[in-house]
Amino acid sequence: MPDDDISTEDMRTEDMREGELLQQTEEARLAEDNVRPRTLDDFIGQNSVRAQLKVFLGAAKTLGKALDHTIFYGNPGLGKTTLAQIMAAELGVGIVTITGPMLERPGDLASILTNLNKNDILFVDEIHRMPIAVEEVLYPAMEDFKLDIVVGQGPAASTVKMPLDRFTLVGATTRLGLVSAPLRSRFGIDLHLDFYSPEDLARIVMRSAAILGVAIDESGALEIGRRSRGTPRIANRHLRRVRDYAIQDGAPRIGAAEADKALRCMDVDEAGLDQIDRRILSVIIDSYEGGPVGLKTLAVACSEDVRAIEDVYEPYLIQQGFLKRTSKGRVATAKSYEHLKAVPKGRRRRGLLDL
Ligand SMILES: Nc1ncnc2c1ncn2[C@@H]1O[C@H](COP(=O)(O)OP(=O)(O)OP(=O)(O)O)[C@@H](O)[C@H]1O
Ligand SMILES: [Mg+2]
Repeated sequence: MPDDDISTEDMRTEDMREGELLQQTEEARLAEDNVRPRTLDDFIGQNSVRAQLKVFLGAAKTLGKALDHTIFYGNPGLGKTTLAQIMAAELGVGIVTITGPMLERPGDLASILTNLNKNDILFVDEIHRMPIAVEEVLYPAMEDFKLDIVVGQGPAASTVKMPLDRFTLVGATTRLGLVSAPLRSRFGIDLHLDFYSPEDLARIVMRSAAILGVAIDESGALEIGRRSRGTPRIANRHLRRVRDYAIQDGAPRIGAAEADKALRCMDVDEAGLDQIDRRILSVIIDSYEGGPVGLKTLAVACSEDVRAIEDVYEPYLIQQGFLKRTSKGRVATAKSYEHLKAVPKGRRRRGLLDL
């Protein structure tokens, strides 16, 4: 069995244990809130998602009804939480935010549901990490807006249905594959967030710079956008760090050269890959002859967490064509060899490069 053949159940358990590793610091969270778009018009990129939401929100507003349950999925930092908050603001309803692992017992969810006001949004972040027993309480609540409450014990126990106000459940996950089929089927709206183009990220950087009072020109914003792994969270973080370097250097304005210098100092290369991305690729190339290598083995060899590799690093490396996922494990592509200026083992032995 290839060692990256981990069952869904294993993944879910492992994910629950290791999920905390991906949490951000409080400081980073505050910095993010500062530049978070508040309306759909301020939300840049993801044109298809934005267009669909505009229609669904408009219809819900016109009908005065709660919006259908919605699930957002996509890599960390692409805007899931931002969109959930925008939905509540656009609809003029309240939003209660919880994370899947916060709900330990079915009673935790029941008390949250009974306290929601009509048409409110319940935002469940990391919904794939919600315990199954809690999930089962959610099914009738999502479907019929009723809570099944068990009264009594043993053979005399019976179920009483308690009505709830209509609400919209908004779920967010980085791992759609770990959301159980019965839960997934109860969402009427299913929206996937993709990596952003460098141009969209440049627009996000320009917007954030205006809010933060940072002087930057379009070439500087594009340089940051190109090297931010398709992710607004990273683009905003790079902007703050590039600003620090510009202040230190006394640069009045951030242009492409200032951005490039700062990103190089931070070890972010031309393609936007950081030290860990490069370590992953060079371990596959140098220690495993380009692969295939199983996920767990790779994680140990890179001294990284399995989940961080799977959730944070590899999706971008795959999207950019540096890495391939095969049934036998991860494989480095020709683009990786070229990027790291590495020579394939076979060619080295046969001396083909001398031709
Ligand atoms: N389309 C966008 N336009 C402008 N800024 C954006 C956009 N998407 C995300 N951002 C910014 O990126 C940051 C991260 O977004 P957000 O918190 O919504 O990501 P997320 O998908 O919820 O991530 P996680 O999976 O880690 O919870 C926010 O500060 C937000 O300001
Ligand atoms: Mg989030």
